[in-house]
Amino acid sequence: MTALLEVKDLARRFVARRSIFGRPTAFINAVDGVSFTVEAGKTLAVVGESGCGKSTVSRLVLRLIEPDAGSIRFEGRDLLAMDAGQLRAFRREAQIIFQDPYASLNPRMTVNQILSEPLALHDLVPPAQRRARVEELLKLVGLEPRFARRYPHEFSGGQRQRIAIARALAVEPKLIICDEPVSALDVSIRSQILNLLRDLQNRLGLAYIFVSHDLAVVKHIADRVAVMNFGRIVETAEAQALFASPRHPYSRALLSAIPVPNPRAKRSRVLLRGEMPSALDPPAGCHFHTRCPYVIERCRVERRLLVSAPDGHATACHRMGELPPSEAIIPADAHYTPALERLLAAFTRATEGAVPGEVDMLETTPSADS
Ligand SMILES: Nc1ncnc2c1ncn2[C@@H]1O[C@H](COP(=O)(O)OP(=O)(O)OP(=O)(O)O)[C@@H](O)[C@H]1O
Ligand code: SF4
Ligand SMILES: [Mg+2]
Repeated sequence: MTALLEVKDLARRFVARRSIFGRPTAFINAVDGVSFTVEAGKTLAVVGESGCGKSTVSRLVLRLIEPDAGSIRFEGRDLLAMDAGQLRAFRREAQIIFQDPYASLNPRMTVNQILSEPLALHDLVPPAQRRARVEELLKLVGLEPRFARRYPHEFSGGQRQRIAIARALAVEPKLIICDEPVSALDVSIRSQILNLLRDLQNRLGLAYIFVSHDLAVVKHIADRVAVMNFGRIVETAEAQALFASPRHPYSRALLSAIPVPNPRAKRSRVLLRGEMPSALDPPAGCHFHTRCPYVIERCRVERRLLVSAPDGHATACHRMGELPPSEAIIPADAHYTPALERLLAAFTRATEGAVPGEVDMLETTPSADS
């Protein structure tokens, strides 16, 4: 079966510095040979530290910027060969939501205008029926239809993100790229937005590329995870396999930094040696070698491409197979106990309403009849 999205050897570099005559003098390889697939109705999480190229991958996949090399296929169609008309049609099928919903919503437009715009742009709903569709979209994301008259500043952060999600849903996309969708939100609101995204995925069969620097967030939504480091994917696997048994030393270090709320769970945190290198001049060979506890000479000079095991778990490390088992680093009990999960869930349910402002809060999950 054809994957919904198939990305192969994608590369993009940016000019980082120019001479006083405007000649480029330094480059950043923001995306450096990235390949992955996204299946319909599934979530691929792309994780990694700030500046590793996550947002650049997102923009490339939507053709908001052009790649220097590589291919992108959406339902088997070559995205890079599409003309303006085909690209316009593709924009209906793939949408993006950003970290800061306030910046992405026009403050001078009402919610009705914001949600009507894509309906008109793509000629999806006749003018007379647009208001009803807007109200339907609001219900879908757990907001009251009467909110359509209001402006973005009248909402809390979590509600604004719901409006941004409703706008993305207006065109009935198959893929939504969520670029750090909960990073700017209060911790108590995050789980509500994650639940909403998961709920919408189940109901509408959406696929997500979920971009985050936070593995703890990703854990609750991903089917598959790709770990990026300096423009390259260093490990990719089914989420369960990656969280249970990360293979690349960089993934292990990221995972070991997730806070453990269970006070009895012991975790040996992997402390990374050395400074984070500059993206302008990443270390040769394996980009992680200056911080890796397992470095050998070969790592300093030779890049290792991703090698996939028969189970689909792919890793880019020269010392794969020689490393200590991950259980030594990520203990099996490093998760919430069922009792604590229930307590946290109850706590977050109780606190989403605690946002100052005059807008009423609704049930946080969309009602089944919407
Ligand atoms: N338009 C641009 N011009 C020059 N450099 C850029 C441009 N866009 C991104 N970069 C650089 O490319 C690298 C990757 O940036 P990108 O925004 O994709 O990272 P990111 O993983 O999304 O980071 P963050 O987690 O901080 O959002 C960074 O070093 C960034 O400075
Ligand atoms: S290739 Fe070498 S430096 Fe890179 S992660 Fe593996 S052991 Fe560490
Ligand atoms: Mg980013």
